[in-house]
Amino acid sequence: MKILVTGANGQLGLSMRKLAPASGFDFVFTDVVEIEGLETRILDITDKKAVNDIVAEEDIRAIVNCAAYTNVDNAEEEEGLAFKLNAIAPSILANAMAAAGGLLIHISTDYVFDGTASSPIEPDRPTGPRSAYGRTKLAGEKMIAASGCNSVIIRTAWLYSEYGKNFVKTMLRLTAGKDTISVVSDQVGTPTYASNLAAAILKVLSAKFCSCEDRQADGENCATLGIITSRVSERKESSFSLPSVREEKRAALNGRYPSGWGPAQPDVFTSACLRSKNAGHEIYHYSNEGEISWYEFATEIARRAGTLRTDDNPGGCLIKPCTTEEYPSKVDRPRYSVLSKESFKAAYGVEVPCWTDSLALCLKSLL
Ligand SMILES: NC(=O)c1ccc[n+]([C@@H]2O[C@H](COP(=O)([O-])OP(=O)(O)OC[C@H]3O[C@@H](n4cnc5c(N)ncnc54)[C@H](OP(=O)(O)O)[C@@H]3O)[C@@H](O)[C@H]2O)c1
Repeated sequence: MKILVTGANGQLGLSMRKLAPASGFDFVFTDVVEIEGLETRILDITDKKAVNDIVAEEDIRAIVNCAAYTNVDNAEEEEGLAFKLNAIAPSILANAMAAAGGLLIHISTDYVFDGTASSPIEPDRPTGPRSAYGRTKLAGEKMIAASGCNSVIIRTAWLYSEYGKNFVKTMLRLTAGKDTISVVSDQVGTPTYASNLAAAILKVLSAKFCSCEDRQADGENCATLGIITSRVSERKESSFSLPSVREEKRAALNGRYPSGWGPAQPDVFTSACLRSKNAGHEIYHYSNEGEISWYEFATEIARRAGTLRTDDNPGGCLIKPCTTEEYPSKVDRPRYSVLSKESFKAAYGVEVPCWTDSLALCLKSLL
């Protein structure tokens, strides 16, 4: 079985590529353009036929959707385009996985919330986007849920990496070249190092999929066989005569189950199986640990890069705190974006490093 990664040339996609070789999974990396030296299959995720073709051709059992319309400012003028990429396209991926009995891991954002929380935001907090980007990402979440496919949505915030454009790279450039800059100090959140998020995604994949040999060794069940096994255990207590395992497998392959038998799996996994205990629709949050403002983040980046003005470095850049009102923007950005990772940690044991440790790691590659 193979796992499809979309948007594989973006920040998160490239971070997935970095960790892929050690993961043991067989990935197919796709994006809308090729980057020289990186194996990439061209896939536009808004093209339903292209998505369905690649899923069938490559025997795709899971998709990690790293593709998105991520330009928060431009989305205000291009909401239709953002909706196509952030809502319609994820529903195409979700329907493809529903048909294949596979799993969709999709990345969403803190912008689905209204930013008025004052303590770490749990995944079940009511949403209330205040921007076009947030509305389109929330629509994507809802369409995935409606598709009925096995899915894990991970909302993240303040994503940065060694790749592409992001706040860390912008601050390195600005503080190296400017005498003074102003950075907002009344928007609070937690940065997310894309490598850490990629590692969390791999953790989910490892928990969701197992080789049949592992499954047997662990005494665990894959999704299809899990249903069968539960029927077998019920058989002992029930006086009803239930169909044979062969009949149940046939019913699964035909997508038909007698009522009350749980969701039909249209396919029987051969080399790997979705673990039955985790099948369904799940939403989690992931960022690094901590709670800071953009101003504090910028100051720490510059301090570590040696570009911050201090008594010892009078030629460095002076970073001044400013308010959201002093920094006009067409986007109503969340004032509070700290995400609670507790349910994600409990479900998958994901590691959540402190933002300072992760920043140090990223800067090690960048400086
Ligand atoms: N960046 C953040 O601060 C942040 C915060 C919260 C959540 N997120 C979410 O995290 C996820 C990953 O973000 P990121 O920063 O890694 O994004 P990114 O760097 O912008 O990467 C997105 C990738 O998707 C590609 N893409 C665009 N249109 C496509 C299409 N039609 N079909 C296939 N691929 C397409 C882009 O190609 P082009 O570059 O050529 O267009 C790019 O390579 C996204 O879901 C985003 O919404 C990001």
